[in-house]
Amino acid sequence: MNLDLYIELIRKGEVVAFPTETVYGLGADAWNASAIKKVFAVKGRPSDNPLIVHVSSTEQIHQFAQQIPENAHILIQKFWPGPLSLVLSKKNNVLDAVTAGLNSVAIRMPSHPIALEFITNTGPLVAPSANTSGRPSPTKAEHVRADFGADFPIIDGDATKVGLESTVLDLTDKTPAILRPGSISRIEIEGVLGEPVEEAFFNDVVKPRSPGQKYSHYKPNAEVRWLNNGEQLEQASYLYLVHQSNVNAPNVLKFNNLYLLARELYDCFRKADLEQYTEICIEPFNPRNSAIGPALLNRIEKAIGK
Ligand code: TXA
Ligand code: MG
Repeated sequence: MNLDLYIELIRKGEVVAFPTETVYGLGADAWNASAIKKVFAVKGRPSDNPLIVHVSSTEQIHQFAQQIPENAHILIQKFWPGPLSLVLSKKNNVLDAVTAGLNSVAIRMPSHPIALEFITNTGPLVAPSANTSGRPSPTKAEHVRADFGADFPIIDGDATKVGLESTVLDLTDKTPAILRPGSISRIEIEGVLGEPVEEAFFNDVVKPRSPGQKYSHYKPNAEVRWLNNGEQLEQASYLYLVHQSNVNAPNVLKFNNLYLLARELYDCFRKADLEQYTEICIEPFNPRNSAIGPALLNRIEKAIGK
């Protein structure tokens, strides 16, 4: 794919949507304050919600992070490139627009080949999910177009592989803390670090450590709820997301494992709104059965409104 046009736009201080392995991102030059301003404007994002810096090499972290603790080195070695964002103490010259004035900066290296090639040519990019604030993160280029319009510059990759946003891990305190669960789970991180990792992503935290936690998350117009035990799948106005039941109907979508449901969840939310379903009924699952279970549960609970 020829990225020249998009690379040129970034160099000119414009914003460009591009695919990552998690969701589509809205990229802007991490060193250009006016480009970053456009990111907030395009999304309608509150200015106190910081952005993740996306890099294409581990050396680039040194432009942003004041110091890289030993556990960060270990995690980078194991999980980068990939869906793990690390919150580190920031260097003084990192733009306030990136960190929303915090002392820390979140950094990740995406594994999607297009994202890597793009960033290799542009230099580090800030990239929030490429949706209008309050909409589900985009997992397909058509979702970005639905939010930002047909003429918006989008590098059109395929549907994203993971479908949920990256794990955000805060390494600025003594105990590492997950601020947002993602496909790289607490258990995997603990296994690699050999130390306990805190979960700090519950909605009832008094003082959110990640500003993103305090914003209401996307809820489809349809009511999202768990499918009741023994409930029949027979309401034409409901969208059913199941993994066990065998009913052949256009409004019953079957996912054979949690990774597939995670990949399709946001697309299902958007589909439910477009097709005016009144309820989205999700068959309960055991989140421990899969590394992505806790992240999937987190996004579903937010959509239910817990
Ligand atoms: O998978 C992803 O991370 C996607 C793709 C495009 O890479 N990006 C993404 O960005 O989800 P965004 O802006 O939608 O979510 C970033 C989250 C927010 O909840 C924000 O509050 C948190 O990361 N965050 C960013 N910098 C932070 C910091 N310094 N301290 C704490 N939380 C931070
Ligand atoms: Mg987002």
